[in-house]
Amino acid sequence: MLLTGKELLLDAQKNKYAVGAFNVNNMEIIQAIIDAAEELNSPVILQASQGGIKYAGIEYIANLGKLAGRNAKVPVALHLDHGTDFDQVMLCIRHGFTSVMIDGSIFPLEENIAITKKVVDIAHAVGVTVEAELGKIGGTEDHITVSEKDATFTDPLEAKRFVEETGVDYLAIAVGTAHGVYKGEPKLDYDRIKAIREVVDIPLVLHGSSGVPAESLQKAISLGISKINIDTDIRNAFAGAVKEFVMNNPDEIDPRKILGPATKAMKEIIKEKMEIFGSAGRA
Ligand code: G3H
Ligand code: ZN
Repeated sequence: MLLTGKELLLDAQKNKYAVGAFNVNNMEIIQAIIDAAEELNSPVILQASQGGIKYAGIEYIANLGKLAGRNAKVPVALHLDHGTDFDQVMLCIRHGFTSVMIDGSIFPLEENIAITKKVVDIAHAVGVTVEAELGKIGGTEDHITVSEKDATFTDPLEAKRFVEETGVDYLAIAVGTAHGVYKGEPKLDYDRIKAIREVVDIPLVLHGSSGVPAESLQKAISLGISKINIDTDIRNAFAGAVKEFVMNNPDEIDPRKILGPATKAMKEIIKEKMEIFGSAGRA
């Protein structure tokens, strides 16, 4: 069934688990995610970035996501990941996304509040729920790059004000993770998550979660993280399986045979994450 992000995340917040939000670019990734979720009886969020939408086309990605969500035996939300402008968010709402992210984190606080509030007012009027970002998460997610020196952690008091003034439904915070592949082991600022949780009572979102050890993710969940974004780990699984298959079967030309093992590999890593997040069995 297709639900809003808020419906999924309030249950996660209440019951102290996190819903995995997995990036989607094509049919095989969506199938891997839905199969994993149904097999483990887990709620799940399908999220498309602006890059993913550009690659697949809004009609394809929206309709694939809606079809998958409506037919799924588990709760599914279709979410825009890192929408950086108002038009992109409106396009996704118009195409039936049930959740959107307006990422105004590159703007000064006042501007971030203004653009987020504008999106929240419109999205809520049509039953769509909203994620925003405060602080700057480092690394590269598709076309958005934030260098190490520009990455800034979320300030708890700013977060309190931001949530009160925007009415946003869930908030992405910068607490030490980064998008893409890590060079060393990421160090999460647990005290900061705790401090934010103490003054903000909506679900909190962790970006850049690929490559973060299971124990760190579970500690973050116990402190208030309810949505965990994963992209790079799925890409790795996909690319690894395709490379291995092609190396072992250089004469194979059937796309179904080449992509089959990749879909399986993505499903396995997604299932692993759902177990770590505690969302398995929660649908
Ligand atoms: O918004 C998407 C994510 O934050 C994914 O980050 O590629 O590091 O898993 P990741
Ligand atoms: Zn992200």
